[in-house]
Amino acid sequence: MKMFLDSAKTDEIKHALEMWDVDGVTTNPRHVCDSGKPFRTVIEEIAELVAGTEKCVSVEVNPHLTDWEQMVAEALELAAISPNFVIKVGVSEAGFRATRELAGNGIRVNATLIHTVPQAWQAARAGAAYVSPFLGWKEQYGDLAESMIPEVAVMLENYGYESEIIAAAIRNSLQISEAALAGAHCITAGFAVYQDSFRNPYTNMGEQIFQNAWDATPEK
Ligand code: E4P
Repeated sequence: MKMFLDSAKTDEIKHALEMWDVDGVTTNPRHVCDSGKPFRTVIEEIAELVAGTEKCVSVEVNPHLTDWEQMVAEALELAAISPNFVIKVGVSEAGFRATRELAGNGIRVNATLIHTVPQAWQAARAGAAYVSPFLGWKEQYGDLAESMIPEVAVMLENYGYESEIIAAAIRNSLQISEAALAGAHCITAGFAVYQDSFRNPYTNMGEQIFQNAWDATPEK
């Protein structure tokens, strides 16, 4: 299962590349805003960090665009910046049309803001390389999200669509486990979520027990 870092902060991305060997990065307008840098600067800096690798970086078109041809024009401009870029397009009617056009021209699309199986289905039909159900957002607003990944996985499998599922807006370790067991191809989560998910109080307790035992044991 691929591991993507959901961030546009270059210090986080550098750490994630060096220490976790992440398979890529997903950005969105909020992450870019949080980086405190201009959009173009940020995406060029991230492109530089993964240059010469197969690691992909999802970069979103201007979310104000409602015309599919404008989405395509901007997507092509972004895709020309780096071969690592995957273009994020929202799942609106215009977004699906833009996705079809881009996929037909060999541009990888990450269909974003997915909250239902029909949205994932339409994105897959349009040729999206990735479909991104937003689990954390559903749960934040009181909807059950645990069935999303298994249902999207069955839908893709039933009809042979080649899109990969990115379990997105992951907020905790449990959501990573559920997505992995349900067959998500990729996870994207923020820096702190991964840090928290890779440690456990019992592990710390065990380390302490072993250190104490080690100290109480004569070496020879
Ligand atoms: C995924 O591609 C999205 O950028 C992301 O998961 C959205 O989550 P956020 O709430 O962390 O912005």
